[in-house]
Amino acid sequence: MKFSRRLQKLLKYSLEKCPLTFPLMESKRLSKAERRISNWENAGRKGRPPEPVKHRNLLEIARKNGLKLLIETGTYHADTLYALRNEFEELHSVELSDDYYSLSRFRLSGYPHIHLHHGDSAIVLPRIVEALQRPALFWLDAHYGIYRDHGAAEGVTYAPVLQELGHIFSKGGAVRHCVAIDDAHYFGSDKNYPTIDEVEKFFTDKNISVMIRNDKELDCLSIIPQSAATP
Ligand SMILES: C[S@@+](CC[C@H](N)C(=O)[O-])C[C@H]1O[C@@H](n2cnc3c(N)ncnc32)[C@H](O)[C@@H]1O
Repeated sequence: MKFSRRLQKLLKYSLEKCPLTFPLMESKRLSKAERRISNWENAGRKGRPPEPVKHRNLLEIARKNGLKLLIETGTYHADTLYALRNEFEELHSVELSDDYYSLSRFRLSGYPHIHLHHGDSAIVLPRIVEALQRPALFWLDAHYGIYRDHGAAEGVTYAPVLQELGHIFSKGGAVRHCVAIDDAHYFGSDKNYPTIDEVEKFFTDKNISVMIRNDKELDCLSIIPQSAATP
């Protein structure tokens, strides 16, 4: 990451952390989020959904399924963690890039219920899943995509979706985790992503009953245990 960009982020996060400037930063963040949501809605929900729309979708899935634990792969600038920090009792996120991990640690250091993990999600996730005591909402977003061009996730040449699902459902369907996967349009169109049929086969082979929904407007593939409430 460029030095100037890093400085910009450090300044923004310092203002967020300072009790004097926090109220202004927070109201700016919230009004920007509302503006982005209504612009997208008013434009007929065309084009890629802005981040706050994705946050709203995650919150809806969590609420409908009674989930208070969020686990994210791909932290990036920790915007999802920050936006949803007061909505979950515990949040975890895994980031491979040194830069994004260290900046996110700085941003979230005042929130003891948020746990950042440094490494490849396909490797780190089993440790997190193993320690879970209750069902979680998983937000799978560890994609290389354009982020590699900014120096993120160096050395990783794939989107570890099937590996991640393998870890999440290592105990079969006994633990009723829900999963939302960003950038659903890559499924079947990018050679590094599985197809939706392959995702379905993953669950059929394991005899796990889930509802898989490809929401094109939200560009999100959601996987909900069959008898849980539907999003
Ligand atoms: C789309 S961004 C994540 C955005 C973030 N989840 C959010 O909602 O604001 C993708 C991030 O995944 C990270 N990444 C890519 N491959 C990864 C991997 N195998 N393990 C962990 N992080 C990875 C990239 O460095 C980048 O920061």
